[in-house]
Amino acid sequence: MVTELTLPTSCAQGAFWSREADQDLVCIDVRQETHNVRTFTFRAKQERYFGFEPGQYFLFDFEIDGETHSRCYSMSSSALAPRAFSITVKRVDGGKVSNWLHDHLKPGGMVRGTGPTGTFTLPDPGEGPYLFVSGGSGITPVMSMVRALADARRHPDIVFVHAARTPADLVFRDELLYRAKVTPNFRLLFLPERAGNETGWSGLTGRVSEALLKVAVPDLAQRTVMCCGPAPFMKAMRELSLALGVPQARYFEESFDAAVLDEETVTPAPAAQAASAFKVTFAKQSKVIDVSSEQSVLAAARQGGVRLPSSCSNGLCGTCKSKLVSGSVDMKHNGGIRQREVDAGFFLPCCSKPLSDLVIDR
Ligand code: FES
Repeated sequence: MVTELTLPTSCAQGAFWSREADQDLVCIDVRQETHNVRTFTFRAKQERYFGFEPGQYFLFDFEIDGETHSRCYSMSSSALAPRAFSITVKRVDGGKVSNWLHDHLKPGGMVRGTGPTGTFTLPDPGEGPYLFVSGGSGITPVMSMVRALADARRHPDIVFVHAARTPADLVFRDELLYRAKVTPNFRLLFLPERAGNETGWSGLTGRVSEALLKVAVPDLAQRTVMCCGPAPFMKAMRELSLALGVPQARYFEESFDAAVLDEETVTPAPAAQAASAFKVTFAKQSKVIDVSSEQSVLAAARQGGVRLPSSCSNGLCGTCKSKLVSGSVDMKHNGGIRQREVDAGFFLPCCSKPLSDLVIDR
């Protein structure tokens, strides 16, 4: 969709990045944001414009130690600076991909990406009033919205609550303070849980709560809420927002993590279905499980203790993409895989039911 916050295809002379045809990205800049967060900026290997809506994300395939690891990262840059885009990544203890990015990806490094995709976008760009609320590195899609609105010279009424562990963990802290100073109708509230090592911190500390929202955003019920952060953070914000009068239709959140949680609570297949199960073999993990023809391969794998990467759980993000060595599936995806990948034998376990016994290269 072309909005005021995206680049109209008619105003660019060059070619646009294509989900189907393009995949090679060159890292052109790495910037340290906080002690454990970095921003990586990419351009296309062949010159391309990136047409995306603020709030969308890219799916990356990273080659690490001879294996492909797929991850989704929201763009943190403005969609109105379309020759390159940025992602902002927190180093996670034991995180294979985030540690690789921080330790190894330098300007000039190449990665593969598919996108843009995602539906966490402003429903009425530029209108408002909004409550933007982010937890930790979940700030990235919301920051993309803030930057795009500024580039479009749109100044809707925004309250931005940014929560983090300590002041030292507030990503984009200086830029947000600057924007709050120069942008009309933009009110910023940093909310670290505790002051940490910053002994001079004079702002609020604590967690998002009903009492805090009633004071800080007394007109919350009139606002559209855009929320991104860890799954428990978003769950709390969702419950608080609805309890304080925000209609469900005006509450939006980025759902990577939430979808994974839902997947873990999926109910087991009834015994009658198990009787018609197919054998599904995960070759690298030497595991064989029974999967009902009514179950997604990902849901069954989780129940069977098989480790598969996943994120959206509905065929959108591509994180679970896996090679099917043998067998056939009924796949109903939402754009998370390209036709040429399907032709090469890949599939998305989260939205695929078995039609036969399967062997999967996982
Ligand atoms: S988990 Fe997103 S496509 Fe499968």
